[in-house]
Amino acid sequence: METALITGASRGIGREVACTLAAEGWRVLAGVRNPNSAPADTQIEVVDMADADSIAALAQRLRVRNQRLNALVNNAGVYRKESARQIWDVNVLGPLRLTRALQSLLERNARVVMVTSGLGQLSSQPSSLVKRLSDPKLSLCDLEYLAEEAPGGYGESKATLNALTRVFAKQLEPQGILVNAISPGWVRSDMGGLSAPRSLQQGAASVLWGVRLPPGGPSGGVFQDGKPIE
Ligand SMILES: NC(=O)c1ccc[n+]([C@@H]2O[C@H](COP(=O)([O-])OP(=O)(O)OC[C@H]3O[C@@H](n4cnc5c(N)ncnc54)[C@H](OP(=O)(O)O)[C@@H]3O)[C@@H](O)[C@H]2O)c1
Repeated sequence: METALITGASRGIGREVACTLAAEGWRVLAGVRNPNSAPADTQIEVVDMADADSIAALAQRLRVRNQRLNALVNNAGVYRKESARQIWDVNVLGPLRLTRALQSLLERNARVVMVTSGLGQLSSQPSSLVKRLSDPKLSLCDLEYLAEEAPGGYGESKATLNALTRVFAKQLEPQGILVNAISPGWVRSDMGGLSAPRSLQQGAASVLWGVRLPPGGPSGGVFQDGKPIE
């Protein structure tokens, strides 16, 4: 049985992704803050993606039981918050810390999806950020340092998540692991609001494309509905 860990599985797109995979027979580890919010037929894994200790504790629990993963979906995200700090903690530092901590548990040929946004398009970001993110020598350390600074809001955080995707894709290539940033489009979730044109199912389908990529598929890219968007 294949196993996937999905963060932000309590509601919205993450919940839809978790339920779809569970219905298809995957073992789904539902990363949630409130254990009562996990969907049925999933295994509850409490994690606060803004909290380094909580992420480390989850990784340690999985390591102790030698929990191998075929897919990791870094979906948890926040849009409007009181501070840039809160946005960058969940949208950038969380995926960076979790993916780094779980690297050794990823199966050969596993898939990693970073749920990004069209608002993270590099060309829409301030030139100072574009310059830093375009550095071909960009490392995880550089990105962690940048995220500690939290320079900007939601769009900047997702542009940085896209760069993080490229760095992990390069790092995990020898194990055949494909790492992609995938936008769900503008979706009718709590975040997207009622006037969004796309359903939860459409958003989830875009994300699931990255989970189901065949061996030799793309890695390090930014996609929506299976098409490159950057
Ligand atoms: N909706 C859109 O139109 C849209 C467009 C582009 C990209 N996205 C991206 O798609 C992803 C999912 O968004 P959504 O629309 O499903 O949003 P949503 O309905 O607001 O759900 C957000 C999810 O993230 C979780 N989360 C928030 N802060 C967390 C934290 N500190 N630790 C752990 N989990 C946390 C929430 O858990 P709780 O229930 O515990 O709060 C919830 O499960 C996000 O990365 C978002 O940026 C969405």
